[in-house]
Amino acid sequence: MEKIAVITSGGDASGMNAAIRAVVRTAIYNKLKVIGIKRGYEGLVSGDIMTMELRSVSGIINHGGTILKTVRSAQFKTEEGQEKAIVVLKENQIDGLVVIGGDGSFKAAINLYEKYKIPIVGIPATIDNDVPGTDMTIGFDTAVNTALEAIDKIRDTATSHERVFIVEVMGRSRGFIALEVGLASGAEFILIPEIKYDLGKICDEIATAHKRGKSSCIIVMAESAGSAFAIADQIEKETGYEVRGSVIGYTQRGGSPTYRSRVLASRFGQYAIEVLMKMETSDSPKCVGIRNEKIISYEIEYILKNEKKVDKELYELAQVLAI
Ligand code: F6P
Repeated sequence: MEKIAVITSGGDASGMNAAIRAVVRTAIYNKLKVIGIKRGYEGLVSGDIMTMELRSVSGIINHGGTILKTVRSAQFKTEEGQEKAIVVLKENQIDGLVVIGGDGSFKAAINLYEKYKIPIVGIPATIDNDVPGTDMTIGFDTAVNTALEAIDKIRDTATSHERVFIVEVMGRSRGFIALEVGLASGAEFILIPEIKYDLGKICDEIATAHKRGKSSCIIVMAESAGSAFAIADQIEKETGYEVRGSVIGYTQRGGSPTYRSRVLASRFGQYAIEVLMKMETSDSPKCVGIRNEKIISYEIEYILKNEKKVDKELYELAQVLAI
């Protein structure tokens, strides 16, 4: 293996830059040449690439976003797009690929490998933390901390005005952010798509808690569990209390990565190169991850065939502590 390429794809996640830096520097340390592919798989289709040197990744470890930019590529989903991408890989003599992204990016990696056998290693990066096989993805810790800071501030208003707040956090189809931030913020209720909830029962419990002297109530909700504003309206009608909805939104995706996101990204980036260098051309795509604090590698195929489960014990703990 002489020349590799690195790509960031899908929704950006804070720590992607730290991962690019680790990939580039580990590769160069190991005498590999490195190409950066811009704008996700779109850049692979159009040949929008740049040579990465040691200094190309200076001063980026502390920045959110991705210097390579990212796109959810529609072009790469087509046969024609994939054929073009293969031509770009061949013409540039790229013999290994590192894909930094989430499950959509890994599905695209498998599609590419099925048409053109090239060693590929995935680095899980998505604020949603919904990648099976790894305890944590790059960007998750930063997103949770950003949401937590916002909810702590909302708690001040909720307490002063004795209001109920429904705070919507991100999580396209899963409740990992909502669960962690709900527990950490002392939320009274956590609504996630993985666990059924009964709004009538929640309204009764809000009323009982209010009578017991609870002056505020925070409900943390995953975007995939409903609409904050619709639920706020319903609860206001049922209980007669003042209820407000608040959507934290895209602030969760950006900002300077936390130390945990940076360290994880650095470890993933380094290990991805280690794994890539040992792969044969025909080897199926691999992914790096972390399990019980140990950096590991496994088949990307596993990600596409499995679903990551939320920790129900955390959910129960949050319920007990919110009485
Ligand atoms: O996958 C990360 C994520 O931020 C989800 O939490 C959210 O549903 C989605 O991306 C938003 O996607 P887009 O950037 O396309 O608006």
